[in-house]
Amino acid sequence: MGKLMNKKLGVEILATGSSFPQKVLTNADLEKIVDTNDEWIVSRTGMRQRHIAAPNEATSDVALGAARQAIESAKIQAGEIDLIVVATVTPDMFFPSTACFLQTKLGLKNIPAFDLLAACSGFIYGIGVAKAFIESGMYKTILLVGADCLSKITNWTDRNTCVLFGDGAGAMILRASEEKNAILSVSLGADGSYADLLYMPAGGSFKPASHETVDAFEHTTIMKGKDVFKNAVPKMVKAAEEAIVKSGKKVEDIKLFIPHQANMRIIEAVAKKLSISMDRVFVNIHKTGNISSATTITALDEAIRTGKLQKGDLVVLVAFGGGFTWGGCVIEI
Ligand SMILES: CC(C)(COP(=O)(O)OP(=O)(O)OC[C@H]1O[C@@H](n2cnc3c(N)ncnc32)[C@H](O)[C@@H]1OP(=O)(O)O)[C@@H](O)C(=O)NCCC(=O)NCCS
Repeated sequence: MGKLMNKKLGVEILATGSSFPQKVLTNADLEKIVDTNDEWIVSRTGMRQRHIAAPNEATSDVALGAARQAIESAKIQAGEIDLIVVATVTPDMFFPSTACFLQTKLGLKNIPAFDLLAACSGFIYGIGVAKAFIESGMYKTILLVGADCLSKITNWTDRNTCVLFGDGAGAMILRASEEKNAILSVSLGADGSYADLLYMPAGGSFKPASHETVDAFEHTTIMKGKDVFKNAVPKMVKAAEEAIVKSGKKVEDIKLFIPHQANMRIIEAVAKKLSISMDRVFVNIHKTGNISSATTITALDEAIRTGKLQKGDLVVLVAFGGGFTWGGCVIEI
C-alpha cells in the first residue's frame, strides 16, 4: 500500500485489455448442431459468431491474456498490483477462486485475490468494489477482470440458449490518484425473487451434483428468455439513468454508451428509452455473443483500441443479468 494519505483519494483508470479463445463458432456452425438458422439468430439477437474455449482452456487462462494486455498497456509491472478481483459465473472450480489461479499464472504471490459473482452485471459490481477499496486507501493498484467461459455451462442440445453465449475476458487496471476521479458514479441493484428465470440450478449446496442432475442438464444455463428480456430493458434504463444523475453529468456529456451485449433488440430498446442515438452506443455482439461478466469490459477495451474513445471521454457502462442483478456506472477514460 502506498502513502497517499491526506488528500481524498480518487481513481485513475490506467488501461484495459481483452482476450478471446481462438476457436470461433459461427451461426452456420450452430446450424449443424441444433435446429436453428443464421437468419433467426441474427434477426432475434444480432449475433453472428462467438468465441469458444478449448476443452483444456479454463476461465483463468482466458483471463490471463486480458490481464497481461492490460498490464502491458498500463506500463506497470505485475508486481505493482496489490489486489486481484475476478468477476465470473464460470470459475475454474468452485474453489479456490479463479482470482487465485490468475494470481499464480501472473507470477504473483501473497496479494489478496477473490472472485465476485453478480452474473452479467459482475464487472460493474467490480468497478464499485474497486472504487471503494481505492477511495478508502486500502489498496492502491487493482487488477479487475471480467471473465467467462459460458460454453462450459451451455446445454448444446437446447436451441433456445446455446446460440446466445460465448467466451472471453476483459481486464482493467485501476490506481489510486490524488488528481483523478475516473469513476464518477456507480449504481447497483438486485432482486433475488427472479432467480429461477436465469440460473444454473445444480452443482451447489442446493442441489449437489448427481447422475440425475447431469442427465437433466441442470449444470447448464436455464433461462426463460422472454421474461428476462422484459425485465432487462427497464432495469438497464434505470441503472444508466441513476448512474448519470449520481455523476452530476447529463446524457449529452456521455461520449459512448456501452451496454451489456445480450441481445441487439435489448440494446436498441434501452438506447431508445434513454433517447440516445445508436451511433453513440457501442455494439460488438455480432462478434462475441453474450459473455456475461466480460461483455462490458471487452467492449470498452475494443472501443479504446479502435480509437472510438480518447483520454478524457465519459462512458456509461450498463448491465443486467441473473439474480436478477443490474448496474450502471459513469467512468472517464
Ligand atoms: C432468447 C431470445 C433471443 C428469444 O427471442 P424471442 O423473440 O423471445 O423468441 P421466443 O423465445 O419467443 O421464441 C420464438 C420462437 O423461436 C424459436 N426459437 C428459439 N430459439 C431458436 C433458435 N435458436 N433458432 C430458431 N428458432 C428458435 C422458439 O422455439 C419459438 O418457436 P415457437 O414460436 O414455435 O414456439 C430473447 O428472448 C432474449 O434475448 N431474451 C433475453 C436473453 C438475455 O438477455 N439473457 C441474458 C441476460 S444477461
